[in-house]
Amino acid sequence: DRVPDFARRLLAWFDEHGRHDLPWQHPRTAYRVWVAEVMLQQTRVATVIPYFEAFMAAFPDVTSLADADQAAVLERWAGLGYYARARNLHAAARVIRDQYGGRFPREPEQLAALPGIGPSTANAIAAQAFDRPAAILDGNVKRVLARLYAVEGWPNATATARQLWQLAEAHTPDYRAADYTQAIMDLGATLCTRARPACDDCPFAGDCHARAEGRTAELPHGRPR
Ligand code: ADE
Repeated sequence: DRVPDFARRLLAWFDEHGRHDLPWQHPRTAYRVWVAEVMLQQTRVATVIPYFEAFMAAFPDVTSLADADQAAVLERWAGLGYYARARNLHAAARVIRDQYGGRFPREPEQLAALPGIGPSTANAIAAQAFDRPAAILDGNVKRVLARLYAVEGWPNATATARQLWQLAEAHTPDYRAADYTQAIMDLGATLCTRARPACDDCPFAGDCHARAEGRTAELPHGRPR
């Protein structure tokens, strides 16, 4: 990795202050990580946890999900919203059952080809479930990197996203892939929050361009209008 110090310091922070008791971390199977990541795409952790537990009780493995009726799956999703996620989850479970013999593919490219799984979610699954050193770029990571390097532009604009992906890849270490992935999301979710970031507690406060320039409130930029 080209920015080794970042990962080393982030992991040291994570060991002490990160979240180590999320239900999908114990046990950290591909199926559990996948369902959690899809739920977390548009829903916050505290809301997801009880839905995740109930979903796992109803559908303990990918085959039971694939074999279920779509109505039963949607019923378990009720309250989480964005029901396309549940339909895609169900469709992907059937692909895994029918094309992969019920076993999750390990390649990020194969994961990203499944319904409802984009590049960042595919890499989050590969990293957390299979310890692959795959970079992620969800909303939390976009915010951390945009602030650290004072990256201009709306993070979802093509040029800005390309720049952020390059930074994400450059910072991802070739060791402790699962922990690193959780660590950078935790930093974004608990310290480098959109409103009132806790810079005083941040191990990167002294490196952060947005902070040095007094621009944490401004970065990352919102959608242009
Ligand atoms: N947001 C998306 N994935 C997450 C995860 N694994 N932990 C916490 N927040 C998340």
